[in-house]
Amino acid sequence: MTTSAPLAGKRVLLGICGSIAAYKAADICSRLGKLGADVFVVMTSSATEFVGAPTFRALTRHPVLVDLFDEPLSDRIAHIDLAQSSDIVLVAPATANIIAKLATGIADDLLSTCLLAVPTSTPLLVAPAMNTVMLEHPATRANMTTLTERGVEIITTGYGVLACQDIGYGKLADVDEIVNAVRIRLSTHDDFKGRRLLITAGPTREPLDPVRYIGNRSSGKMGYALAEAAVHRGASVILVSGPTALEPPAFVKIVRVETAEQMLEACMHAAPTCDVVIGAAAVADYRAASVASKKLKRNSTTSLTVELLPNPDIIATIAARRAVGQFIAGFAAETDDIDVNAARKLQSKGLDLIVSNDVSRPDAGFDVDTNAVTLHWPDGRSEALPLQSKRATAEAILSCIAAAIAKHNLP
Ligand code: CTP
Repeated sequence: MTTSAPLAGKRVLLGICGSIAAYKAADICSRLGKLGADVFVVMTSSATEFVGAPTFRALTRHPVLVDLFDEPLSDRIAHIDLAQSSDIVLVAPATANIIAKLATGIADDLLSTCLLAVPTSTPLLVAPAMNTVMLEHPATRANMTTLTERGVEIITTGYGVLACQDIGYGKLADVDEIVNAVRIRLSTHDDFKGRRLLITAGPTREPLDPVRYIGNRSSGKMGYALAEAAVHRGASVILVSGPTALEPPAFVKIVRVETAEQMLEACMHAAPTCDVVIGAAAVADYRAASVASKKLKRNSTTSLTVELLPNPDIIATIAARRAVGQFIAGFAAETDDIDVNAARKLQSKGLDLIVSNDVSRPDAGFDVDTNAVTLHWPDGRSEALPLQSKRATAEAILSCIAAAIAKHNLP
């Protein structure tokens, strides 16, 4: 699957304060770099007591600035240049002290001075890390409220055992969550911002005995492409995946399952909180009535009959219990009478959209990187998309879903 670096060309100013969580800033820095961002680091002098500036110099390939009089370029003033040339500013970890300084406009070191010079149009994200009592102190709370009112995004701290052995809120949020928050704020294509998507992908495997199963040729590529595209467009994605050889896309919450019944259970758990559900999985229609506990022995003289029971229809079950305003889409894998079969499935499963594909084509459907699909709507309209990569197909499907949601003014 082709993946363009989602933060390519973006400049991130990462401010690091003196907290034990400062070591996690190295991971944040590395992750932002891997997503294509050009990261510039400013540390407070107490941050350097926890992690050395050379770590960040090596990760970013840029000088790391600490002192107000660190001026690597003679023709520019570092704190103004850094603040004004950044596409986004992230302070992680942020101490109670930097939050107080930012709220009251104090500029007495390089980081606080930079933060004061950040234009109001530049997104500013603050990931606090501190002791619970400090976090809950009325002064800190008031400062954080002031920052939120000014449009600063505070990334909520995690709960757990803190460095001081107290238990409570105050832990730096997960690195994943912090990096994701940056990515979402920088996303130019954000029509799924704030939406939760449930996507099923891949085949299911229905066991016959400990070594054999009934399966199908689905690779999961279409569902994974949808998940990746949705995340790039600002969505939170839960991907319920049957067995595949694919790496899950970054920032996607993956739930791995094997059988149709496990997929149904995972989906029924996730579906009520999701705005959009897309069934891209090739669910096995049947499972063995009984699964042998020991490997079935070969007998070359008698035939073997396996009794099969129908599996639940996952997408139809979700549609039958749909939450208010939920948009539900399915796929129709067909080899013949595509339009008729797709329209029938759309109606019988109670879906808002069905995406048909001709799986007998060598360049569409199972285990290839391209697809040629047709979108079928409940009012009888259909729209054929050209043969294109599964990622481009995913983007086109999401654009159509976004337009349909907007048209119906769904929440
Ligand atoms: N689907 C599902 N649960 C099943 C079977 C299918 O959720 N037990 C979903 C698929 O994920 C897809 C849609 O239903 O979104 C249509 O799947 P498809 O395999 O094309 O159709 P089936 O309903 O299985 O019908 P048939 O095999 O007869 O074509």
